[in-house]
Amino acid sequence: MDISGSVALVTGAPGGIGRAFVSELLKRGAAKVYIAARDAASLSDLMAGGDERLVPLTLDVTDLAQVEAAVAAAPDVTFLINNAGFAAFEGAISAPDLSSARREMDVNYFGALALTRAFSPILAASGGGAVLNMLSMVSLVSLPMAATYSASKAAGLSLTRSIRAELSAQGTLVVGVLAAQTETPMGARLPEPRLTPEEVVSDSLDAIQADQNDEVVAGALSRGAYAAFTADPKAFQAKMSARLPQR
Ligand SMILES: NC(=O)c1ccc[n+]([C@@H]2O[C@H](COP(=O)([O-])OP(=O)(O)OC[C@H]3O[C@@H](n4cnc5c(N)ncnc54)[C@H](OP(=O)(O)O)[C@@H]3O)[C@@H](O)[C@H]2O)c1
Repeated sequence: MDISGSVALVTGAPGGIGRAFVSELLKRGAAKVYIAARDAASLSDLMAGGDERLVPLTLDVTDLAQVEAAVAAAPDVTFLINNAGFAAFEGAISAPDLSSARREMDVNYFGALALTRAFSPILAASGGGAVLNMLSMVSLVSLPMAATYSASKAAGLSLTRSIRAELSAQGTLVVGVLAAQTETPMGARLPEPRLTPEEVVSDSLDAIQADQNDEVVAGALSRGAYAAFTADPKAFQAKMSARLPQR
């Protein structure tokens, strides 16, 4: 899909990877970019750049009324980027209760599901369009120090594959991004070295432009991790299993 001339919607736009998406979409000639955030005030510095193609939206992806309002406010979207995410970095057993696990599933899994369901008729009307889901290397392997986040991202990968199959009839491209630790507020909790948000976004948007209706492994660090995973999935899981919760 051509990014030039597209109308994109980025959830979690003020976050580390969200900002990089916004900036690269503008560089690649998007006609309009809806920048969505739970708190519209967090978009002020993005808006301060004065690019008239940016349209702010208040959107908590876990709030179905706000999702419906976003559809009404952005009826011309051709490219949906499900980027919003939350990670509590807690163990499955050592977490004090289930609240973070539920929030991770709500944001990372149900949020992407709700947005994609809501926008799929709009994408169909535009001739197909594209959906990009920000997944993770922990969609493939479990990281005990972020146990319930890993589970939500594994659910996200499964969902992405089903959505791809279901939306193929309407010609919607569905790309899932597998990325390793990235230099953002979320990624700061993960070990170095880290990817830059820009390299994750560049490889992700290249996949969209190349109509790669599949998962994309974004960034050199991710490709190294993915090669190790595919060479020996059990050994790779054993290495990740050594990273236990801190508490
Ligand atoms: N950083 C990494 O190492 C890494 C690696 C692979 C994949 N990813 C994925 O990449 C995506 C972006 O992460 P990031 O690293 O850029 O993290 P980040 O800097 O923490 O940004 C996450 C963004 O998501 C927003 N968000 C959280 N809950 C939301 C909700 N209910 N509704 C709407 N927005 C919500 C946050 O807004 P608030 O500030 O309002 O909470 C924030 O703007 C996530 O899906 C993440 O899982 C990250």
